[in-house]
Amino acid sequence: ELAEVTTLLLSRIRDIPDHPEPGVMFKDITPLLADPVAFTALTDALADLVVRHGATKIVGLEARGFILGAPVAVRSGVGFVPVRKAGKLPGATLGQAYDLEYGSAEIEVHAEDLSRDDRVMVIDDVLATGGTAEASVQLIRRAGAEIAGVSVLMELGFLGGRARLEPALEGAPLEAL
Ligand code: PRP
Repeated sequence: ELAEVTTLLLSRIRDIPDHPEPGVMFKDITPLLADPVAFTALTDALADLVVRHGATKIVGLEARGFILGAPVAVRSGVGFVPVRKAGKLPGATLGQAYDLEYGSAEIEVHAEDLSRDDRVMVIDDVLATGGTAEASVQLIRRAGAEIAGVSVLMELGFLGGRARLEPALEGAPLEAL
């Protein structure tokens, strides 16, 4: 029952005020990861989406998208591809810069890990402003692959990430558990 899973997941997300800076309420997922029932329920729910949307690869976004995406990939029988902050991946990369509220950031992927035959599910813990997810979708398309969807544990609706991301998705689903 999806409503029960949602209640369980919500109960394992901890609010940390003023982290990483004053005025920000940080959504901490470490209690969820430490609870095997909740972590398994989350992995199963995300794996259901991978199957439903016919994804052939998972892209996980550094760093919590690695923790969530890797077990989903194993459970779904598809490969896992990390999207990392610039400068971390050792091989030939494609990079995508994106705007933050103040300044900019850049993410990278190993281009050879994605092919024209791939349908990619992007997985992360939080959709906030949507900048990271939007840049990852652009990166995956530039690598030649198709977007099966973006799946996150939670969406902070008041930050408008869905509106920012939707044009880049071109109709692919954005789902928040
Ligand atoms: C957080 C979060 C998402 C991103 C969402 O990662 O895990 O990846 O920010 O923000 P956005 O929608 O505004 O782009 P963070 O930058 O804290 O990186 P980390 O997980 O490596 O600490």
